[in-house]
Amino acid sequence: MPDRPYVIDKLISAKSIAARIEALSHEIEAEFAGTKKLTVVGLLRGSFVFIADLVRELDLPVEVDFVETSSYGNSTESSREVRILKDLRGDIEGRDVLVVEDIVDTGHTLFHVLNLLNSRRPHKLRTIALLDKPSRREADIRADWTGFEIPDEFVVGYGIDFAQRNRNLPYIGKVRFTEG
Ligand code: PRP
Repeated sequence: MPDRPYVIDKLISAKSIAARIEALSHEIEAEFAGTKKLTVVGLLRGSFVFIADLVRELDLPVEVDFVETSSYGNSTESSREVRILKDLRGDIEGRDVLVVEDIVDTGHTLFHVLNLLNSRRPHKLRTIALLDKPSRREADIRADWTGFEIPDEFVVGYGIDFAQRNRNLPYIGKVRFTEG
């Protein structure tokens, strides 16, 4: 599959992403105004670029932590299993927490992670996703803040991969196969 030739058409520019993050950061600052510490949790690996840019826009006392998940089974089945490969380093009981996701597709990943983190009784738990594909949703979940709603396109860049490639593109692009 990765050897099939493709080109990447730009869908969302680096400038648009930066502007959107700046706008959303003010909403997040308002939501968490007065917090002693906000634990910002990135979902690996896809969110690593987004979380890096987002935290640098947040004028709040911030701590960064990560969770890594892996999903098994057919993604068209609502019973899809999501496993935690790497858990948080820190305790979030009584803490303010912001979960950062690169893209919400079926929603199973975010749904599972939120259930897990909620069971640890944080003071306030909110979520932000850079991209949302509402047409693909299977789990009943929506991020509190979304950067961009997109159609059901195969996207890469800004942390998102195609068979582990293209995560380093500074923009969001759409994969277009050129043969077959
Ligand atoms: C992708 C993406 C989200 C998840 C969204 O991660 O980064 O975390 O899928 O899909 P869902 O809403 O259908 O659950 P992936 O498992 O590809 O791993 P990665 O972040 O390491 O690329």
